Amino acid sequence: MDRMRQLISERVEPARKRVRALIKEHGGRAISEINLAQLYGGVRGVICLINETSALDPMQGIRYRGRTIPELLRRLPQAPGGHQPLAEGLLFLLMTGEEPSDEDAAAVGADLRARAHGLDAVAAAALAALPPETEPMAQLAIGVLAMQRHSEAHRAYQAGAHHRDLWESTYDDALNLLAQLPALAAAIHRRARGLAEVNEPPDGLDWAGRLAWKLAGDAPLFAEAIRLFTFLHGDHEGGNIGAHATHLVGSGLADPYYALSAGVAGLAGPLHGRATQDFMRWVTPLVASGGAPSREDVERHCVATLEQGQVIPGFGHAVLRRVDPRYVALYRFCREHFPESDLVQTVGLLYEVVPEVLKRHGQDRNVWPTVDAYAGVLLRQFAVVDEPFYGVLVAVSRAIGVLSALVWDRILALPPERPKSVTTDWLVRHLERSS
Ligand code: MLT
Repeated sequence: MDRMRQLISERVEPARKRVRALIKEHGGRAISEINLAQLYGGVRGVICLINETSALDPMQGIRYRGRTIPELLRRLPQAPGGHQPLAEGLLFLLMTGEEPSDEDAAAVGADLRARAHGLDAVAAAALAALPPETEPMAQLAIGVLAMQRHSEAHRAYQAGAHHRDLWESTYDDALNLLAQLPALAAAIHRRARGLAEVNEPPDGLDWAGRLAWKLAGDAPLFAEAIRLFTFLHGDHEGGNIGAHATHLVGSGLADPYYALSAGVAGLAGPLHGRATQDFMRWVTPLVASGGAPSREDVERHCVATLEQGQVIPGFGHAVLRRVDPRYVALYRFCREHFPESDLVQTVGLLYEVVPEVLKRHGQDRNVWPTVDAYAGVLLRQFAVVDEPFYGVLVAVSRAIGVLSALVWDRILALPPERPKSVTTDWLVRHLERSS
């Protein structure tokens, strides 16, 4: 048995025992409250989900298994000759809770390569049947579902496996899916651009390196950018729409193919995974005439957006109350490699101007830039991927986290999610009765 699977299997019983003891001892204790405004406000801030792989700290940003982004940028294994963390190391950490050695990351990479068989024939036929104008995220969701017939979890359930034993086949599905995603993403990209297939990546290339190769061939700096991008988008606790959708659909014991395709659909919204694309559309007029804009131009653009009743994309987060550390990491990469870029300079100016403008317009807590205000800036430097495709890269990266979380949902045998809903009439009557 490989070390990643071995470590998880050693943790299964202790984790279940711990949860059983917690429920036995504290099962009746209240953890969170909800007020009426939260009920109509996306249940923001209400603790009502378990997600073992990561947690979002409003001040420090996402912590992957307790570790911050800056810590992991220093500590996770990196590709030979590179400086960015390997997706394999992140997967190992999220799945096991342990920091991987270089050998651990290499073993995960070898496992993923052994599970990759090029573009699945049914997924290829499904993509070919779609009109080319089909949104890339729709193509990704369809491509994932087209591979559902490979599900080990589905097979195990049909063969009578007990719920508590489904984590192993879920784990296999997670790794098989991750192995197949670079080929699927690259096929969607090729269709949009009318490109021919590139040569196979060299033996031994890491997962994100292979994804970059399949998109753009041999381009070492792009591979580094994709390593950073996939690491930073890898997970964002359980409450964001994509993660929650994956978990929710998976909670009915739908296999990981169904669950991930639901997560991809969740990420397709402009207020979620598509925010990167929307930010680029918003910022582009500022650099359209060539050269970085002045501070006054930037301020005018921001005020005009707010006065039209729109939000400034990429600024303000549901949970974060400081600058998103993912934004900072992308900023550093772009500053190092593309200091002359008008776009990079413009986004630097936005960092100074937007929070001030938002505060002047009465938004005081939620003003800082998120990863969405830099992810597209990074990708634009390479001119190899189009904006409608950015969401696919976000979703392929996020698959690392949501699939790891799904394995842990199975380990903890979490039941179908079934919160109670009420009508506004019920609420009004309830308020009248209880006042
Ligand atoms: C994410 O990366 O999923 C976004 O920052 C959205 C969120 O966490 O709600």
